[in-house]
Amino acid sequence: MIRMEGKVSTEVLETIRHQTDIVNLIGKYVSLEKKGHNYTGLCPFHQEKKPSFTVSQEKQVFYCFGCGTGGDIYKFLMLAENLTFPEAVQNLATQAGVRIPVPAYLGNEEQTRKKEQLWKINELAKNFYHYFLTKQPEAQPARDYLAKRGLSLVALKSFQLGYAPAGWTTLLDYLKQQNCLTGEIMDTGLVISSEHGKGYDRFRNRLIFPIYDFLGRVVGFGGRVLDDSLPKYLNTPESSIFNKRNILYGLNLARSSIREQGFALIVEGYLDAITAHQFGLANTVATLGTSLTEEQARLIARYTREAVIAYDADLAGEVAALRGVDILHASGCLVRVVTIREGKDPDEYIRLKGINAWKELVANALPLLEYKLIKAKQKKGTTRVILQQVLPNLASYKDAVEQEEGIRKVAAYLNLSWEVIKNEIKQFETQQRKVRPDSDKNVNSSYNRNINPQMLLKLPVNRRTRAELELLQLLLVEPTFLVLVRQELGEYAFKETNFNKIYRCLKQTYTEGAHPNPVSWLHQLDEEAQKVLNRLLVERIAIDKPEERTTALIKTIKEINRQEQQTHLLQELAEAEKTGDKEKVALMLAALKQIFKDGKPDKKLKSLTMGGK
Ligand code: GTP
Ligand code: MN
Repeated sequence: MIRMEGKVSTEVLETIRHQTDIVNLIGKYVSLEKKGHNYTGLCPFHQEKKPSFTVSQEKQVFYCFGCGTGGDIYKFLMLAENLTFPEAVQNLATQAGVRIPVPAYLGNEEQTRKKEQLWKINELAKNFYHYFLTKQPEAQPARDYLAKRGLSLVALKSFQLGYAPAGWTTLLDYLKQQNCLTGEIMDTGLVISSEHGKGYDRFRNRLIFPIYDFLGRVVGFGGRVLDDSLPKYLNTPESSIFNKRNILYGLNLARSSIREQGFALIVEGYLDAITAHQFGLANTVATLGTSLTEEQARLIARYTREAVIAYDADLAGEVAALRGVDILHASGCLVRVVTIREGKDPDEYIRLKGINAWKELVANALPLLEYKLIKAKQKKGTTRVILQQVLPNLASYKDAVEQEEGIRKVAAYLNLSWEVIKNEIKQFETQQRKVRPDSDKNVNSSYNRNINPQMLLKLPVNRRTRAELELLQLLLVEPTFLVLVRQELGEYAFKETNFNKIYRCLKQTYTEGAHPNPVSWLHQLDEEAQKVLNRLLVERIAIDKPEERTTALIKTIKEINRQEQQTHLLQELAEAEKTGDKEKVALMLAALKQIFKDGKPDKKLKSLTMGGK
């Protein structure tokens, strides 16, 4: 991080920062509400029910009181979009209309260059496969297969489907001819290295489905056989650009439609998604056979708060759906579930019954609670078992009205009273807290109060950290006190290392008359110190008489220093007396007398030095 700051000038970073409204930026991902001087919302980086994610427009930082994540606009975009620092800078510069005078490859150049290279190779491969499918005679069987399944040319084009020819090195030869490096080709997973020789194509005689990230970069591929042979699908392995956990197939094409339609339709397979798009349901994305992850749920929650799951009609689909609904619900989405009775999956259903029947099925999808209750009843679960399954959902409603509705629904279904269920929810919540003591509970106790040092990186709660913390807060609000603090407490005023790091930044940038901008220090600080600074910046403190308070705090810290030194000297003295080291005894006594002169010593010391006379 420190390296990068040197490469993009601080000035450029500041310009971009100046042109970017942090509330506006974060508001695209999190729905924010104004609370006092700050904005709050649900943290996009951990699961929570009560908003502890805070954005300070004034200080241009964000901080989550729940998970401790925080930073400036760059950090936010890095986390939200999984970007490197230079990528985030580039991105925000473009949005803000700021031209960066140096190339974009700043910071972790090697890593960024490597990623760009993989995207480039994937792009070449995608075009190669697509060209093959659409133009080469050899691909006729593939074209026939797609026609048989009813795929339109438009769908084939918008998803850029392709065909991998049967040869062992067709793609490899092509990529080499395009001057791609063998090592980097291997890293995409498109080519498998062989013991002797140069390697061979992973996909041979397969239909190719390029997998894009939501920004439309090709990050991986899936390949399907043209018949019933196994394995039906092959995928490229994970790489630095391909992490299956946070990829939703089709999201690059579905994003705007999800926003417009107000909900996302989640299916299992490539072909389910493609068919839905072909028939105009462009808000469909696919999870690609794995169960829905938290990351994917969060990705969806960026665009909408409503999701409909439409998994395959088999048992695996049902199990995956049951898991998926909870994950989506926990990420704050309203969830409904489609049950398919004709055909085995959405693709077959649409082909069989037509798109209108499908739309109707989707419109009538069961809300999460109903779905769970019905499924549980089908399995002949006892009331207790059924209740146990819906409790997490009932407990995690963010909206009190929705929760109330849910409780009534479950009460009616299970023939229980409202009170009993409410009580069960309470018990469930208490249990949850015991399991995860650091979750939501702490958030509220610390929110809008004085900072508890323990919340801040688990610092010890003692007089020193309290005093140092308050002094640092004061310095951030009123940097002019730096002169006084420096004069009284010196260059290492703080014993807590993270405080001292921030203090050092302050000293570096403070010049009389100019107000330093603490947010610009973030990139010079390590993770831990960043956390502390973020936290301090979003917290507004109002101090009545700052000057008096500063003086008092300096006095307190000096006193603590003195006491600590005294304890240390007394220990040394006792040691010296035990070993009979007269010289050292005299030395220690002299040092103690000095302390005695400077401040008020405790009784023990008084008697000692008096006796020494
Ligand atoms: P069709 O059978 O052609 O309609 O494809 P489908 O997408 O409906 O396949 P299916 O419902 O069997 O599987 C859903 C998704 O799981 C697929 O789209 C793949 O992403 C994934 N999948 C299925 N089979 C395999 C496999 O053998 N290997 C891997 N890696 N993934 C698979
Ligand atoms: Mn299918």
